[in-house]
Amino acid sequence: MEKFVIKGGKALFGEINVSGAKNAAVAILPATLLAKDVFVIENVPDIRDINSMLQILEEMGAKVNYITRSTVRIDTRHIDSKAVPYELTKNLRASYYLIGALLGMYSNAKVAMPGGCNFGGVRPIDLHLKGFSALGAVISTEGGMIMAKAPGLVGASIYFDKVSVGATINVMLAAVKARGVTVLENAAREPHIVDLANFLNLMGANIKGAGTDVIKIEGVSDLHGCDYSIIPDQIEAGTYMVAAAATQGDLTIKNVIPKHLEPISAKLRECGAIVEEYDDAIRVYATGRLHGCNIKTMPHPGFPTDMQPQFTVLLALCEGISIVTDSVWDNRFRYVDQLTRMGAQIQIEGKAAIVQGSAVLKGAPVRADDLRAGAAMIIAGLCAKGTTEIEDIIHIDRGYEDVIPKLTAVGATIARREFPDDNSVAKRA
Ligand code: UD1
Repeated sequence: MEKFVIKGGKALFGEINVSGAKNAAVAILPATLLAKDVFVIENVPDIRDINSMLQILEEMGAKVNYITRSTVRIDTRHIDSKAVPYELTKNLRASYYLIGALLGMYSNAKVAMPGGCNFGGVRPIDLHLKGFSALGAVISTEGGMIMAKAPGLVGASIYFDKVSVGATINVMLAAVKARGVTVLENAAREPHIVDLANFLNLMGANIKGAGTDVIKIEGVSDLHGCDYSIIPDQIEAGTYMVAAAATQGDLTIKNVIPKHLEPISAKLRECGAIVEEYDDAIRVYATGRLHGCNIKTMPHPGFPTDMQPQFTVLLALCEGISIVTDSVWDNRFRYVDQLTRMGAQIQIEGKAAIVQGSAVLKGAPVRADDLRAGAAMIIAGLCAKGTTEIEDIIHIDRGYEDVIPKLTAVGATIARREFPDDNSVAKRA
């Protein structure tokens, strides 16, 4: 079993380059199925989720070649199989975007129920399916597979009763080639939704309003290949911003869009950290003890739920009491058990965590329960006295490119090590 081993207590100083956005890439790669053509996509992060998605495309008949480590050429002209390989999709949450893309291209999709990050609660996809139905698809499920079929999709007005990133993206993928106009109301506004819309428009789609809560899609009959560069990862950048403040260090985080980071910057400033914005970089440093603040996660442009676990670590170290409320996910505090093993004082009350600040964190064996929980454990380990061992790092590898070299370059003592399986936290707990 591989673990991350961190010797904590060192402030981070220097520069970190952010990779391409995972959540944009997992939508843009399946979107290439909407045309039989050649694409060159830059700023593709080299992480597990993306490698799985590329492997799925390859098994479906696409030719995938790396021009550089982050630039991929995808040739979909000879896609010979509409069947999505089950083994690869079942561990990848975003595999459900293949339903939207295949439905959009062939009016027919059969994809395994999505796996991937489980925050401890249910992750429904009813809104995705309602959207497909509104476009004329008939949905059925059998043996862990979702089947969607339509004689031909027809544009419709769709009101989402909950703001959903996944449903907005998936229905957009299905609707680009539908006959007539589709209007998505109460749509999600995340930067990766705008990125996907820009990509689809470059392919020849006609999408207006992405980034607002009303998206209008005028169906087109043909789409073509294009060259595109994926936006930087908002959450990877935010994770390093919080690491800078939590370790009382000074990091300049490069290849970012500062506008996308505003909800995180605002909260860091509220805690007393200094945040300086440049054209495509952001500098975060702390000059003294920080104080707590309250956080409530919301859909974009609110504070991102994917930054909630990392920020909670910072708040555990700040002076005073902070309340963290997650209004996006019902049960996203599972990681708190691991933080309390390190000395954090946090109580869960329903959808909120009450964080008693000024904790002195001590290194401990902990587990990465999911991707962002894993990022939180890294930040906690960097701030803790002594050694922290993080297991289940497979979750972290899903979403953070080169996390070890990036952190080592700014002064962290962190390494990936192989351990015998019987040494697991889960077994000792
Ligand atoms: C995406 C992100 C995830 C992030 C989340 C919220 C990707 C690959 N993942 O997940 O990291 O935490 O946005 O920013 O981009 N819901 C329903 N029915 C549905 C769909 C969602 O009730 O059909 C609910 C969910 O249970 C949740 C809320 O809507 O409470 C938001 O979920 P959604 O925005 O869809 O998250 P994902 O797209 O799964």
